[in-house]
Amino acid sequence: MSKYQTGILAEPVPPVARHLFFTLESIEHLPAALQRLTALVDGDATVVGFGISVLQALETQLLKLRAFPALSANGLDIPSTQHAVWCWLRGDDRGELLHRTNTLIKALAPALSLVQTTEAFRYKDGHDLTGYEDGTENPVEQAAIDAVFDTQAPGGTYAAIQHWVHDLSGFKSLPQQEQDHIFGRRLSDNEELDDAPESAHVKRTAQEDFTPEAFVVRRSMPYIDGEDAGLVFLAFGHTLDSYEMQLRRMIGLDDGITDGLFRFSRPVTGGYYWCPPVENAQLDLSALL
Ligand code: HEM
Repeated sequence: MSKYQTGILAEPVPPVARHLFFTLESIEHLPAALQRLTALVDGDATVVGFGISVLQALETQLLKLRAFPALSANGLDIPSTQHAVWCWLRGDDRGELLHRTNTLIKALAPALSLVQTTEAFRYKDGHDLTGYEDGTENPVEQAAIDAVFDTQAPGGTYAAIQHWVHDLSGFKSLPQQEQDHIFGRRLSDNEELDDAPESAHVKRTAQEDFTPEAFVVRRSMPYIDGEDAGLVFLAFGHTLDSYEMQLRRMIGLDDGITDGLFRFSRPVTGGYYWCPPVENAQLDLSALL
């Protein structure tokens, strides 16, 4: 039986999803709330991650977990909006996800309270709202397992999550070739472009170009929130360093070149979470409790 939260590697991303972010209200009530949570989370329909404040509250240390860093460089700001608990509800029915949300809110009270909810969805068969296919260079099968799951105790994986708000009309008003050069791929056939500029997103983030190589599994999904629309970027790795190296290169901290994506999109949130392993289709919180 798999020891990890299987929703993480399940493909494709589900038709609909909810991202829930909880803040810690009472350390005293936390252990009981987490016990109730284990009974509700199978790691497949619902994936759960804990922020550093939960570990600190339980006087537990995980050397690889830290708070999401706020970064600024080259006129770009990467905000940190770290929360205590993140839940990724995966499904195909918005109503069912709403009911599942309410069950989780009740189970986690009064230790944790919901502070942010985002409804996300699959666009076409896994595209960003710009129309570009997202996830092409994700490692698959054993390579995905190797990229994502920590083999050292207590196991599990680490997640990085950001909301990116797109200026879609600005993007769509650019000539097609300029749009393709922002990503470094051709919209029409998803081919990687040899003549793309150094600012092209896939050149900034080329996973094998880092030392050590920085492979992650991305499970991003578009979202709409009133007038805003964009991407809930979500990446998993056995370390947060791979994602963070990519992000630093995107904002030009390596060589001063910033990612073309910033021409039409900005991150407005950012958090890091440890996703514990599962045992018998229940969260294994033995490292915490
Ligand atoms: C506005 C937000 C973003 C959008 C719309 C976006 C979209 C895309 C697209 C369309 C691709 C090409 C196809 C693919 O391989 O998936 C791609 C590649 C990739 N993106 Fe992003 N991305 C965003 C943010 C990020 C961030 C914040 C990171 C990490 C810090 C990242 C990491 C990667 C990686 C690792 C690849 C594959 C590069 C390779 O090895 O070829 N992306 N992204």
